[in-house]
Amino acid sequence: MSKITRREWLALASASSAFGLSACATTNGTATETQPLHTLAAEKGMRFGSAMGAGQLNDARYMEIMLRECSTMVAENAFKWYSIYPEADVVNFDPADRLFAFAGENGLTMRGHTLLWHRQEYSPQWVNDLEFTSASETADFVEEKIARIVDRYAPGIYAWDVVNEAIDDQTGMFRESSLSAKMGEQLIDHAFHVAKAHAPNARLVYNDFMSWEATSTAHRAGVLRFLERLKSRGVPIDGLGIQSHSNYEMPDEFTTGKQSEWIAFCDEVAGMGLEMYITEFDVNDTQLKPDIAYRDALISTYTREYFDLMLSYPQVKEVLAWGMVDDQNWLQGFLPRADDVLKRPTLYDKDYKAKTVRTALAEAFKAASYRQPI
Ligand code: XIL
Repeated sequence: MSKITRREWLALASASSAFGLSACATTNGTATETQPLHTLAAEKGMRFGSAMGAGQLNDARYMEIMLRECSTMVAENAFKWYSIYPEADVVNFDPADRLFAFAGENGLTMRGHTLLWHRQEYSPQWVNDLEFTSASETADFVEEKIARIVDRYAPGIYAWDVVNEAIDDQTGMFRESSLSAKMGEQLIDHAFHVAKAHAPNARLVYNDFMSWEATSTAHRAGVLRFLERLKSRGVPIDGLGIQSHSNYEMPDEFTTGKQSEWIAFCDEVAGMGLEMYITEFDVNDTQLKPDIAYRDALISTYTREYFDLMLSYPQVKEVLAWGMVDDQNWLQGFLPRADDVLKRPTLYDKDYKAKTVRTALAEAFKAASYRQPI
């Protein structure tokens, strides 16, 4: 890549039209379009950032957006076991190292995602095939895998998604795996204790995709009971990552007045003394009519309402988008539209131009109250 540091970017930034920005006064007279999202977030004690992959290091326009908008970042896949430990006898830290170096060289802080994605579909097949003879044998295996990753990057990572998606979204029950066969839920406790021992100063997070949607009722309840169990066993957990791959049920518009169950969920999480983090925001427009203006209007309204609610919790310390440019977002392939029209899940379009949804998020940051930063 042609590497561009934040300082170099700032020197270029006066030519902001090159990045698809135009100064546009908002209702309170401040041009949110010309203020980076990380600045707007920091004014309220929060971080803003995005996921990215090592491939995007070669995309100069993507890098410009990352460096201009973000104070933090997370590797989209590079820290996962399937990337680092793809086969029993293969260890590959290369993409993770490159992303970690990029963050360090450019003054971005970095989250670690994820030390244990407790879900068979996203666990390497060789791990799924393991048969352990005892809990302690499993514990040693898990400890070695997690510690190796944490030790390589600590103290450069301020927050770890220690465990990802351990609760079945259909049943609300703890998922089973080759790793839980002998340990049960102690597997999760162990992962957090190992992370704590190796990264004593990092935020330790449970991350999942429970949401405000009606189909998420069992998932929300399951996650709450799970968090309660962790807390009651003294597991060193600091907070809940709320992924926010939002809007599977669109066009059921989000209005905070209809979200009593979601508010009750967030209240319970906060009541447990946990912080909250928006870790993977994007908007799933699978169900929406293809008209771009129509979709953008709905997505922007939704985004403003969602963040007005979420940022009203002082426990919410950061917001990360799951990628910054529409055509590079994972939902294009994961949940493609039936009509093959390009989805619009992120803040920037495929031509790297800021969209109205970016303004919606910027204005939600503007409207938020200050909280103690992490
Ligand atoms: C996704 C990535 O975006 C894809 O590239 C990959 O193929 C699968 O994983 N929840 C998570 C993320 O915690 O790690 C997932 O990322 C999206 C859902």
